[in-house]
Amino acid sequence: METKIINSVEIASDEIVKGNVVGLPTETVYGLGADALNEDAVLKIYETKKRPDFNPLIVHVSDVQEFEKYATDIPNDVYKLADFFSPGPITFILKKKDIISDIVTAGLDTVAIRVPSHELFRFVLKLSKKPIAAPSANMFGRISPTTAEDVLKELNGKLHYILDGGKSSVGIESTVLSFEGGRVTVLRHGYITKEDVEKVVGRTVYDYEESVSSGKISSPGLLKSHYAPMTPLYLAEHTFDLKRLIDELDEDNIEGLTKDNIGIMDFSTYDNFRELAKHLFSDLRNLDERNYKMLFASKVKNLKLGRAINDRLDRASAGTIKYEDRKIIFRNK
Ligand code: TXA
Ligand code: MG
Repeated sequence: METKIINSVEIASDEIVKGNVVGLPTETVYGLGADALNEDAVLKIYETKKRPDFNPLIVHVSDVQEFEKYATDIPNDVYKLADFFSPGPITFILKKKDIISDIVTAGLDTVAIRVPSHELFRFVLKLSKKPIAAPSANMFGRISPTTAEDVLKELNGKLHYILDGGKSSVGIESTVLSFEGGRVTVLRHGYITKEDVEKVVGRTVYDYEESVSSGKISSPGLLKSHYAPMTPLYLAEHTFDLKRLIDELDEDNIEGLTKDNIGIMDFSTYDNFRELAKHLFSDLRNLDERNYKMLFASKVKNLKLGRAINDRLDRASAGTIKYEDRKIIFRNK
């Protein structure tokens, strides 16, 4: 099958209507879309990206009003949050209606729904008149794509078309929220931060780990997936550890590493976390293509958008490094 990057929303929409998968731009990352109400089409998503069938998909719709078609018992907090952040990078886990197939939700009785803000994706929703199920358009376990070219590299030959919508402006996946047990829990950190959500709902918002360990929400056990580059990535807790590594490599080599055969993710070039988030996956992808022996990054401050950035770095990493007892210590995951 030949895969083409296209600019036509009509062709992309036709693919959805025909029951095929198509690469679609969103403001977060590129998605691999299919008609959410067509089980065969949804199965093609799992097949195409070799995604395990226990990992549920997000259903994308054009408007909050549509939530009621696919979900019931929608808490008021959802409407409050949608008022502020939808269309945009926020996903709500809601009690599903029967019209949503178990294949979409991987057998759960909840469905993930979001209203994307990317203009071209919205156009495809409007033309096709279908809700669109879409995971990120990468092979399972790999780095999420933020350009049409990235999708081509990931899925070339596995689909007909990728709609080109430029580089995703957000760069990391949407914030996923659960409303189980009467509390708001962040299942996946994203561009919209826990603090942003707290401001709108006016009460404490919890991390996934907090809610699971206190027994307030059930653990679907679905969230451990990672986005690994081919080249092993090691993380330093502080920039200091990374600086030490570079100094040491000036003098000598460590485990066959030299200054020339390692890649360093340099976040100091970005003015703020938003810029960093936008370029995080593409920087990782670019370094991964250079045949380095190892990649290194240091974590950022674990606050606000920093949480989402650290989460993606953690999931992409093979282990950590630390300068301890005058030595660089590598620890594998
Ligand atoms: O920004 C995004 O959300 C992108 C774009 C394409 O919209 N999509 C995306 O989809 O990141 P995916 O499939 O890569 O990630 C979906 C996440 C997974 O962590 C999945 O476990 C979680 O949402 N999820 C989906 N349905 C769920 C449910 N019913 N309960 C709990 N988690 C769910
Ligand atoms: Mg993904």
